Amino acid sequence: MLSVGWRRAVCCVRAGSCISVSPRKWHRGIKDWTGSAPLEEVVRTRRQQAQRTLLVEVAGASSAAELCRVCGQHGRVQALFHYTLPPRGHVKPREMILIEYSEATEAQEALKYASHAPSKDCPPSHSPMMWLSAGRGTTTPKKSDPTPPVTLTPVITQEEVLQRLSQCSSISDQIQTLHDTQRLTELGWRLRFFTCRQVESSLSGLFPCAVVLPFGSSVNSFGHRDSDLDMTLELAGDGTTQGGSGRLVFQGKHSSTAANPRLTLQRRMEVIAELIDHFLPGCSQVQRILNARVPIIKYKQQLTAIDCDLTMSNRSGYHMSRMLHLYGSSDSRVVPLVGAVRRWARCRGITSPHAGRWITNFSLTMMVLTYLMNTSPPVLLPLTALQVMPGVDEETGEPVFRVPSESATTAAATAARNTESLESLLRGFFEFFDKFNFRERGMSIVTGRNFVKPVHCALYIQNPLDRDLNVSRNVTLEEVERLKTEVTHARYVMEAEAQESDSTGGVSEGLWGAQRLWWRSSSAAQRHIDTVIDWRAVFHSGENSKGKELPNLVSKLKQKAQQRKNQTPRYTRKGKIL
Ligand code: CTP
Ligand code: MG
Repeated sequence: MLSVGWRRAVCCVRAGSCISVSPRKWHRGIKDWTGSAPLEEVVRTRRQQAQRTLLVEVAGASSAAELCRVCGQHGRVQALFHYTLPPRGHVKPREMILIEYSEATEAQEALKYASHAPSKDCPPSHSPMMWLSAGRGTTTPKKSDPTPPVTLTPVITQEEVLQRLSQCSSISDQIQTLHDTQRLTELGWRLRFFTCRQVESSLSGLFPCAVVLPFGSSVNSFGHRDSDLDMTLELAGDGTTQGGSGRLVFQGKHSSTAANPRLTLQRRMEVIAELIDHFLPGCSQVQRILNARVPIIKYKQQLTAIDCDLTMSNRSGYHMSRMLHLYGSSDSRVVPLVGAVRRWARCRGITSPHAGRWITNFSLTMMVLTYLMNTSPPVLLPLTALQVMPGVDEETGEPVFRVPSESATTAAATAARNTESLESLLRGFFEFFDKFNFRERGMSIVTGRNFVKPVHCALYIQNPLDRDLNVSRNVTLEEVERLKTEVTHARYVMEAEAQESDSTGGVSEGLWGAQRLWWRSSSAAQRHIDTVIDWRAVFHSGENSKGKELPNLVSKLKQKAQQRKNQTPRYTRKGKIL
């Protein structure tokens, strides 16, 4: 995953002057918006926004006024977002502005008048990614609208996150704070849809109906700033783009491998990968993983600083995202809780940014949803209770979800009946899976129940779309053992934390609360390093009774806290430095 090093900046520039704005403005807005609208609506609105948008490399944020004058010749500029790409090797930091027109036709007009840099190795090509040259052409704006403010997105460093977490008043507050600092920003949302738009618009000459839809954590509400961007390319469009109805009909070319749809898909993806590799600005490190069950093209979009996974004709991922989005929107605790569990799993080396024999964030999300269906009263209802039924896409024959419009209301009403705090839910998650019989039982969000595994495998999580499949088929026995050990460990850490909080009256030194799950083993963030727990070191004994082991763990944690006391600032849980 690529770490996006947006520069810290908390002011906005209005025609050269600097005015302070709250960097949380967009943050809050997007929460309300995505929380209430179904995914289809979010995607439709964001795609339209991306069609009105251009990305321009500039000398710095102060070039915004000049850029507005240049772009104002073609239409009304309604929003500007500045960010800085971190230096890479010998390449200096690059200053970028995402500029949004009020109409898509205005962005098209600007593209029509853009010039090509003369270069032997780089044939002239169209792209919504450009740079602002010094002093070419006229700069008379078509309309005399004022320059809109430039939104600058602050980068939050790990040290700042740590500081904020230390100052929280409770574990629930820590879980919420982690979520607030990691969630996608307004700029993050825009860049993701714009990255899809680049591929779509580059193919549009040959494939006028082509659509690139984002799916996965970028849109299902469980995404973070560092999450990859999953996309699916539909060359035939999504059914919304219609050609003309005249009597002249375009000739087409039938595939010579039509009898073998998988081979056809792989060949087409090879061509798309070559195109991305050789002609699309900013795209690098292109990998073709075409023999996978779902063939994929991986690349880095350097100009938007996003790791991309492009699939083709893979609507099931999008439908899965619609279902996850429904759950993520049903209650304000669901997404922060999933974020807390994902962070724990990453810090303890249970998950990895690389694909492999370990559990993925997607499977982990399903585990959290299963647990939330088993609380008392339940926070979430299973898919059957929400009447979310599997169906078949008429065009592609792929499985899809039919989501009734009243499902969102039913889901929200159910969640409201459970009033447990985030802390209590996180503790409950570890308790639930500490007791779970992974060896014999599988789990399902279709029914919310566990059941005897239908096939021999280490971990069985039913695929809710294609119900004969297991989404965690890749996970080995060794990885499940690691997961179980870590779950037990996390459960004890949470219990010890509660006891320690009672005995210290809420005053703690250095790392405390959920931080002990997220930060204690920073080296374990890199898989295969320091991820095995030395239980004897933790408990000083081989006692089996968990009741007897706990005091040893508490004293161990207290000793560690004592050691840290002189090295780190001290905080009360109200956040004041002592
Ligand atoms: N997916 C699926 N079946 C699987 C794995 C993935 O349908 N067995 C779909 C899900 O919609 C998932 C998406 O593909 O959200 C992307 O998968 P992945 O990138 O692995 O997970 P994310 O949810 O995007 O999480 P991350 O933030 O780790 O990328
Ligand atoms: Mg993903």
